Amino acid sequence: MKATKKKGLAMLASVMLLFSAACGGNNGGTNTPANNNGGASTAPTTETSASPAPEQTDKQITLGFSQVGAESGWRTANTQSIQDSAKEAGIELKFSDAQQKQENQIKAIRTFIQQKVDVIAFSPVVESGWDTVLKEAKDAGIPVILTDRAVDSSDTSLYETFIGSDFVEEGRRAGTWLVEQYKDASEDINIVELQGTTGSAPANDRMAGFAEVIASNPKLKIIASQTGDFTRAKGKEVMQAFLKAHEDIDVLYAHNDDMALGAIQAIEAAGLKPGVDIKIISVDGVKDGFIAASEGKINFIVECNPLLGPQLMQAVKDVVEGKEIPKRIVTEEGVFTSEDAKRELPNRKY
Ligand code: AHR
Repeated sequence: MKATKKKGLAMLASVMLLFSAACGGNNGGTNTPANNNGGASTAPTTETSASPAPEQTDKQITLGFSQVGAESGWRTANTQSIQDSAKEAGIELKFSDAQQKQENQIKAIRTFIQQKVDVIAFSPVVESGWDTVLKEAKDAGIPVILTDRAVDSSDTSLYETFIGSDFVEEGRRAGTWLVEQYKDASEDINIVELQGTTGSAPANDRMAGFAEVIASNPKLKIIASQTGDFTRAKGKEVMQAFLKAHEDIDVLYAHNDDMALGAIQAIEAAGLKPGVDIKIISVDGVKDGFIAASEGKINFIVECNPLLGPQLMQAVKDVVEGKEIPKRIVTEEGVFTSEDAKRELPNRKY
């Protein structure tokens, strides 16, 4: 067999493995809640890791991981998944929490370079401003993997792959549900938006995808849009301000469940019924979000899967072994109405 053909087959096997992990290993590949088994299939838990060949276990791999922070239920589940998967894969994990600050992530990456880790992975708090530190890692010969959030660097050789959701698509899914709900509206529908962390990929992309889709119906109007920093406390605070400034809010679009949950407190305190007086769409699908949805307080959830650990560890092993891996690995996700959430709540692990 020619060397090129061999390499091609090895790469194909690697792509299939990663794809299988991305799809939870047993998913038909569609984005319906039924096929997603309430997100369980999108949660490619530990079983999806391939058994390493004997020579792969010889070298102790060290991974430096810089996490965004602990701002949401999603983030907590993501951290747990990475820590558990590293343990399971026998990878030594150096974990650093950046507390939602880019400068802390840059410091952590520089420390990992000094420590000569085998691979650096991180979930960039914001999209811009990474080129210098990524070049430092490249010059030191340390491969970098992006998880969850992307960077806007034009030089894609600065990282091996980006594993995570398609945030623009998540925004589109939120918008598509809304367009369908209000297709016969004869009056303006006033929407308020709680954005994620300013400058972060999920905030930018969820905003863009949503705006793109609702533009098809001029009755759908975003009357206010502000960051709630992906936290419950800020979601509540900003929603209070929205309610004060606008008497006629029809819809809340929150970029994550935590902000929606904070906003629900503000809506109830204002004597209104969340999910009824104000329709609520959110993103993530963490357990607390599912509880609120099953109670009818959130009308529609677009799933964002935090269980990226198994895919990350597989990619780390592949990179260390010098295998080529896909530049982009997209996570499989579903959508959930209140009814879906009621059904799927018992299966929700995080
Ligand atoms: O990057 C993923 C986003 O970050 C999640 O939607 C949000 O909950 C988290 O804080």
